[in-house]
Amino acid sequence: FGDRSLAGLKVLVSAGPTYEDIDPVRFIGNRSSGRMGFAVAEAAAQAGAEVTLVAGPVSLTTPAGVAQRVDVRSAAQMHAAVLAAAQADIYIGAAAVGDYRPLEVSAQKLKKHDGGELTLRLGENPDILASLSAQTAHPFLVGFAAETHDVASYAQGKLRHKGLDMIAANQVGGGLGFEAADNALTLYWADGTVELPRTSKAELARRLIAHVAERYRATRG
Ligand code: C5P
Repeated sequence: FGDRSLAGLKVLVSAGPTYEDIDPVRFIGNRSSGRMGFAVAEAAAQAGAEVTLVAGPVSLTTPAGVAQRVDVRSAAQMHAAVLAAAQADIYIGAAAVGDYRPLEVSAQKLKKHDGGELTLRLGENPDILASLSAQTAHPFLVGFAAETHDVASYAQGKLRHKGLDMIAANQVGGGLGFEAADNALTLYWADGTVELPRTSKAELARRLIAHVAERYRATRG
């Protein structure tokens, strides 16, 4: 405690799932609870940052010290909210953004037809992190990679392809990750890596923030 490693910096955090509506009562979502991202927002505020939290549909109260919260539902809304706040020094993309959305959203509830198949046409959502990294002046970018297998190679691939400064990788499953209280992360940056072993999401978030602050000061300080 007493760590003010992000004092004077603006930190933007995205958290939670996105919901892509199919009709007025159905959507495509995912199992992100938002807890890791909310813990990251709280830890950044504790470290002295001015924090904006962009939250997908979650049932979580705003952490103490967070300056601003913007609630969104879809990936497109999250993209717009992040871009609107992208003058931050650091962006931590902890949200589980849906990769696809239904191309047509029915204004009326879809009806069941006997024995038939239903085909939904899906279009790709923009990658929020990649669109930030494509901007000439952009925040220090931290991504998350939730993987079920080959964690290290997928995470390092995403670090490069999305043009990130750091990626936090976690194995999903086995009581860790989505919907769980505990988590474990491996951080990767261009020329380093560190393991953050299994602990509460709150403690993990504080350790992640300490490494983000250190890498930020080393490269942008
Ligand atoms: O490629 P994948 O979805 O596994 O990458 C995860 C990381 O990319 C997370 O940090 C997530 O917030 C971010 N992401 C994004 N926009 C998307 C999809 C993922 O910013 N459309």
